[in-house]
Parts: sequence; C-alpha cells; structure tokens
Amino acid sequence: MLLKSFLCALAVAQGVAYAAPASIEDAIRSRATRDGIDLSVLDFASQVLTIIADTYRQTNTDYSQQGDEKPYAHRGPGNIFDVHAHAEPDWYRAITPFTGMNPSLDTGGGHLVPQWNLTAHSDFMNALGITHSVLGFTGPSANVFMRDRASTIALARLINEQLAAYSRTQPDKYSFFAAMPLPFVDAAITELEYTANELGAVGVALLSNHEGKYLGSRDFIPFWSHMDNMGGRRIVYVHPNTPYLTVNDTFVIANPYPSMDTSRMEFYMETARTFMDLTVSQTVQNCTNTHFILPHTGGAFPAMIDRVLKTTAANLYESSLEIYRTRFWWDSASPTYFHQVDGLLAYDIPKANLLYGTDYPFVDADANQVYLQSIMDYPRLSDEEKDDLLSNNYKTLFGDKLNF
Ligand SMILES: *[C@@H]1O[C@H](CO)[C@@H](O)[C@H](O)[C@H]1NC(C)=O
Ligand SMILES: *[C@@H]1O[C@H](CO)[C@@H](O)[C@H](O)[C@H]1NC(C)=O
Ligand SMILES: *[C@@H]1O[C@H](CO)[C@@H](O)[C@H](O)[C@H]1NC(C)=O
Repeated sequence: MLLKSFLCALAVAQGVAYAAPASIEDAIRSRATRDGIDLSVLDFASQVLTIIADTYRQTNTDYSQQGDEKPYAHRGPGNIFDVHAHAEPDWYRAITPFTGMNPSLDTGGGHLVPQWNLTAHSDFMNALGITHSVLGFTGPSANVFMRDRASTIALARLINEQLAAYSRTQPDKYSFFAAMPLPFVDAAITELEYTANELGAVGVALLSNHEGKYLGSRDFIPFWSHMDNMGGRRIVYVHPNTPYLTVNDTFVIANPYPSMDTSRMEFYMETARTFMDLTVSQTVQNCTNTHFILPHTGGAFPAMIDRVLKTTAANLYESSLEIYRTRFWWDSASPTYFHQVDGLLAYDIPKANLLYGTDYPFVDADANQVYLQSIMDYPRLSDEEKDDLLSNNYKTLFGDKLNF
C-alpha cells in the first residue's frame, strides 16, 4: 500500500508523463544507484533481486519506502526473544557453501552450511517457544569477495534488502541487524544510514574482523563516530569471523589447530580479540550512545579481561568494567549455561543484561532444547531472572526500536 500510494502521489505531482518504476526489482536497483552502488558487479544480482521481490510478492507485502514505521507487535512476558539467529537464503549458501574454515571454500574440515528458509525458521521458533527472532548474517557476511570493494558493497546491499524483505513479511516475528561493507568505511556509512532510516534495521551486525581488521582499527573511527552521532541509541551485534593473517599480500586462515574447525575455538578467541581491541582503542569509551551484543556470553573475552587490562591498560580498568556492566549485553547462544557464564557473572555483570540466542540454523532445534534446559537448570538465576533473560531484558536494550 505504501509504495502504491507513494507512486500515485508522485504520479499526480509529476503529471501523466510520469512512468512508475516497473517493479520491486527496479525500486531496489534505483535506490542502490542513488547510493553509488552498482549491483551488476555481481553476476547473480538479477536472480537475487527476483528472489527478494518474490519474498514480498508471495505474501502480498509492499516494498515500503520508509523503514521507521516500527510495526513490531507488543511482546509480553512468556515469549522468548532470540537475538542471535541467522538467515541463510539458498542464494547466499550457493556462494558460501561451507562453514568452519574458509566459508567460501571447502578447505578440508569445513561443514556444509545447513539448509535454511523462513518456513523452517518459523517451525524452529514454534518448537522452542520463540516469538521473535532478530536475523543477522554470520561470517563471512558481505565479505565473501575479499579486497573487492565493489562486490562487497553490492553484496551488503543485497543481504540487507533480503533481510528487510523477511522482516516486513512478518514484522511481529522478525527484525534484523544490517550487514556492513567494512572495511570500506565510506560505503559502510552509506549503508548504515540506508538500513537504519529506510529499511528499518534495529542495529548493525559486525564481524569480529573485516578482512583482518579488528573493530578497534583506527581506520574504522569515522564509522564508529558517525554511528554514535546519528541520534538515539545504536545497537551493534558482533559475530565471530574466521581469523586471517596476511601472508605475501594474500589472506591466510589463521587456525594453528586445523584439525578443529575455526568456529569451535577460534570463534571464542575472535570475540575476545575484537572486544579487547574495542576496549584498548577506547572505541567503547568514546561511543557513549552505542550498546554492544556479545555472542556466546562473550566467548573467551571474560576470561581475558583481568589478564589484559590489569597488565596493559590499568588506567582503563574501572571505566571499562563500568561499560561492560551497562552497555554490554550477553547472548546465550550455544552451550554457555553449563559453566561458562559463571566466569562472566563473577565480574558483577547485571543479570538484566543477559539475553537469549540460539545460533539457528547452525545449532538445530534438538541441541537448542538441551541448551535452553541448561538455562532453566542454572542455579545462579532465580525463576524471575530466567523469565527476564528469555522474554524481558531485550526490551530495555531495544527500547523504542521495537514498538511497545
Ligand atoms: C526449507 O528448509 C527445510 C529445512 O532444511 C527443508 O526441509 C525444506 O525442504 C525447505 N523448504 C524449501 C521449500 O526449500
Ligand atoms: C611468499 O612469496 C615468496 C616469493 O614468491 C615465496 O618464496 C614464499 O614461499 C612465499 N611465502 C608463503 C608463506 O607463501
Ligand atoms: C577515544 O578518545 C581518546 C581520548 O580522547 C583518544 O585518545 C582515542 O584515540 C579515541 N579512540 C577512538 C577509537 O575513538
């Protein structure tokens, strides 16, 4: 409806000579062109645009002009809210078929990315009692074509149009974190503005490293300061990525223990590296409007806080801890409540900053049932604190980004 009425208004304004854009595909293309993005650098872009447009057409959803309409339904207690869930559309799986090592190559030790679609996701949510999922892409996200600026920017736009399409078909069930074409900072700022203001993203999904640059990189300062000054609270969800070293000017996967895929141990190290980098660079100190969601209750990060800060940045210790207790939020994804979370809570992290995450489809429904039960059995949370973790704490984080 919105698109139609917008076009009608435009047609009236411009007289009968005005020709309406033929399709959703054209609307997406023309916005990309406006933002200096050439989608045609990706030879699969046309097919993906048809798939995205079909996401709207199959549900009679309009490709609306503005994303700031906050169409999310009121969520009451008892509904589980998942902040760590992945979309893996077939078209994206076709370019990143493997996970665990280099996701775009079967370098040995990688696993096939599981098949995913919105229907299966919805069935999964029903099985777990989840009523809302915030969808984000896992690594490599938009960084499939390393060092190829144009392709990275175009892929980020396709990912974000696809995520917006899923969210708009069922806004009470889905929202999304936008992919950013970092390390290309100027393009990332354009994409940030577009996804926040026109597509209605609730935040951004950054990787622990983008082409080997950790998030505290000085090169990223313009991105952070732009985001922090956009007004209101900004939400950054960070996902671990494959670690890289540059050798002879090419990227080499930095997994010195290759018999175990990088998503097992290295992903935890990645979370530790990038949040330590964000701390030591003082990015988290300077960006006072920005809140961070840490995956897997922080991975190996909590274990490193005293070790690194007490020895190398003692002057930042107290102020950093204060930020970890206020603007850091910790998602439960995977088996984190058997023992791991004890180490995090020992830093007096408020239980009100604990969130729920599933890592679906990389963690399936059966495993998620076991991990959910481990939260329910966790002795250091009261029944009320467990309810809040599953169904309430997210409200304090997202605030008016969701429509309560
Ligand atoms: C959706 O994904 C599920 C789970 O992998 C699969 O069983 C089903 O065939 C898929 N449906 C379509 C239409 O691809
Ligand atoms: C880097 O390049 C040099 C010169 O081509 C070669 O001798 C060397 O083996 C390369 N190193 C690695 C680690 O690939
Ligand atoms: C943060 O602010 C400090 C002090 O003004 C400055 O030294 C540092 O470079 C800044 N770092 C970032 C990442 O903004």
